[in-house]
Amino acid sequence: MRTDTPQTIYLADYTPPAFLVDAVHLTFRLDPNATRVISRIEFRPNPDATSQDFMLHGEHLKLIWAKVDGQDVQTNLTGDSLKLDVPNAPFIWEAEVEISPATNTALEGLYMSRGMYCTQCEAEGFRKITYYPDRPDVMAVFTVRIEGNLPVLLSNGNAVAQGEGWAEWHDPWPKPAYLFALVAGDLIAKSDTFTTRSGRQVDLNLYVRPGDEHKCDFGLDALKRSMVWDENFYNAEYDLDIFNIVAVDDFNMGAMENKGLNIFNSAAVLASPETSTDANYERIEAIIAHEYFHNWTGNRITCRDWFQLCLKEGLTVFRDQQFTADERSAAVARINDVMALRGRQFREDNGPLAHPVRPESFVEINNFYTATVYEKGAELIRMLKTLVGDQDYYKALDLYFRRHDGQACTIEDWLKVFEDTTGRDLTQFKRWYSQAGTPRLKVSEAFENGAYTLTFRQNTPPTPGQEAKQPVVIPIAVGLLNPDGGEVVETQVLEMTEAEQSFSFDGLGAKPIPSILRGFSAPVILETDGIGDNAAFLLAHDTDPFNKWESGRALARRTLIDMITKGAAPDQAFLDALLAVLRDDSLDPAFRALVMRLPTQDELAQTLFDMGHTPDPMAIYQALETLRQTMAQHMQDALPRIYAAMHVGGSYSPDAEAAGKRALGNTVLSLISLTDGGAQAQKQYDSADNMTQQLAAFGCLLNIDQSDTATQSFYHQWKADRLVIDKWFGLQISYAAPAKAAEITEHLTQHPDFDWKNPNRFRSTLGALTGNAAGFHHPSGAGYDLVADWLIRLDPVNPQTTARMCTAFETWRRYDTDRQAKMKAALQRIADKPNLSRDVTEMMARILN
Ligand code: PHE
Ligand code: ZN
Repeated sequence: MRTDTPQTIYLADYTPPAFLVDAVHLTFRLDPNATRVISRIEFRPNPDATSQDFMLHGEHLKLIWAKVDGQDVQTNLTGDSLKLDVPNAPFIWEAEVEISPATNTALEGLYMSRGMYCTQCEAEGFRKITYYPDRPDVMAVFTVRIEGNLPVLLSNGNAVAQGEGWAEWHDPWPKPAYLFALVAGDLIAKSDTFTTRSGRQVDLNLYVRPGDEHKCDFGLDALKRSMVWDENFYNAEYDLDIFNIVAVDDFNMGAMENKGLNIFNSAAVLASPETSTDANYERIEAIIAHEYFHNWTGNRITCRDWFQLCLKEGLTVFRDQQFTADERSAAVARINDVMALRGRQFREDNGPLAHPVRPESFVEINNFYTATVYEKGAELIRMLKTLVGDQDYYKALDLYFRRHDGQACTIEDWLKVFEDTTGRDLTQFKRWYSQAGTPRLKVSEAFENGAYTLTFRQNTPPTPGQEAKQPVVIPIAVGLLNPDGGEVVETQVLEMTEAEQSFSFDGLGAKPIPSILRGFSAPVILETDGIGDNAAFLLAHDTDPFNKWESGRALARRTLIDMITKGAAPDQAFLDALLAVLRDDSLDPAFRALVMRLPTQDELAQTLFDMGHTPDPMAIYQALETLRQTMAQHMQDALPRIYAAMHVGGSYSPDAEAAGKRALGNTVLSLISLTDGGAQAQKQYDSADNMTQQLAAFGCLLNIDQSDTATQSFYHQWKADRLVIDKWFGLQISYAAPAKAAEITEHLTQHPDFDWKNPNRFRSTLGALTGNAAGFHHPSGAGYDLVADWLIRLDPVNPQTTARMCTAFETWRRYDTDRQAKMKAALQRIADKPNLSRDVTEMMARILN
């Protein structure tokens, strides 16, 4: 509970720690309401310190006793920290504190999830476990003893000894406290082994609750593939004899990279064909890889302070994206990454929560685990790689791993390895880290005497606290096609550094058609009004799969915008072009499914807003419905053949090829169900032997409103499986008609299975409502009110999950005055709640600002 005004922390105020820690010994005596934590910490003065003040963080701790060098001390406790006079020499701090994991509903620190103990310490959760310098630039070797009457007692590193009711762990790698972890419970391990390239035998264990053993194979397989991949591409080997993963039902995020003991939201690791969709499998594979890759990018080399969060997250997301591209289809992976970037990061960058990839201030660091830090952070790494080339990229990474192993680093350290490797000056590139907002890139063309010239102008709109923007370095990958569709100039990377810059291509026989920003080579918004209309041509001919898809997307967006703003009918040429792609069996089914996917309501709202319109969510919804119905009719004759051709026989496999066929088959099914009254979907629902097919069919049935029986049968079939019931909650809300979405959500919150303190269940319900754009923004305001009511209720229980969902309101300034007033009133109601958490207080201040 907050008692004083939250403090803002500034990057510019960084000072090195006064004392460093060599070794930490912790003993845990587990008890749900009165766990004792006894610590013994070896401190020594930091030679690089600028102050001698000894300070330990601590929150919600009951201090039993404390000693310095064996002598009892009286401590000076103020709020969330403890200050003490200590010798200017090495000394030993010992203390005993009491904490209450059973009442820790915030899921940060040591908490309980359905009878099992687990921890979450990133970013600043360790201070809820014991007094400690809880900052990532203090790295120490941890030895942990756990006492408790539970079959499985785990911590980081290697198991050194165990007996009845106790276990001891030792992690030889110095680490910051945020990577500490402890798990204790009645768990079962599914095990495997991995031999590293240099011959280390590693035991792999995935710990789950009894009953979930059949959901482990895929996670273990993904882990082994990640381990091989990191050796092959980054020369990065695993460095302990054991790698443990634990699945936990109550978790605020996807997963956590604790050294040697990753803790996963069970939704991000457990998989079986009957209960998990292809999309689940793909996400699980990516998260397993992500957390594993953190062992080098994050754990061996960590962040000096939390402003440097993108140092580990941007790089690790980039690495997991590379992994997915490599294990699956690179083209499809890139398109998926860009859709996610636009959907979440562009939205953030164009609203009140915009912040640089490396922020310069924060109130609550938990509020900065954002799409900007993660996804835009990954785009910056991708651009660096494009600019320096593959060879120098991997050389720079080798240098990074050698030079900074065991250190807590900054973005300056990171860029320096690239400068030292390549001799390049990255001063201007660094603006990408400090400047918020999405650059707009306008292009125009000229053709004269066989010379084709592209002129680019860049401009980044102001963001909160940053009025004036400077030009950034933009790698623009360009290829040129001739008018018959052949490629005349293969992809080249133009390096734009000025506000306005031209690039020429000589010796061309005819005016070419440019394919610009291939592979989405920079996270910018490209405006091609100045070069005529090439979208249909590029959709048919571009050799770059990303731009081929992008062109289809542009056509779809334009048709929808014309329908919305001019009352136009769906564009026939667009429908024909789409049908041609759908029928083109030479194209990967997964790619075709992506081309068939229409822009989201939110993307259309942002586009309309950028064009100077006030988006009307109901009009957007209507246009999409009309277009889908028109597509279903226009393509009707082609659909049954494709649906049949996409049938995947045999037993379920989550591989990319089979998943791609199911994706296209289910896209086709959703169109068929708009004209056949749901007969085909019902058939698929009844015969489905995997969740991908069952859920897709269930969605079709919900969409056409024939859903009562399916809703009930689905529930009865799956009521024992929490992860599937999350889907059941979510899908009913996602498919609810705009006028009914809030009501259906409200109704579901009264369901006995609506366990609102469980973040997965809360998100699958209230989060689904915020994702149903027309439902959330229904003119009644019922969506806003319901979400606000629940955020107010959840905040005292779990501030972190509450604060993340506040982003539902970040777009409020886009809308008409009536909606603005309603959203603002909802926000104000949250802001006015007494004793609001620091997390949500900061979010409200930023969103309302
Ligand atoms: N560091 C985790 C990841 O990206 C995310 C996380 C942050 C999890 C904070 C929990 C709490 O892999
Ligand atoms: Zn991460």
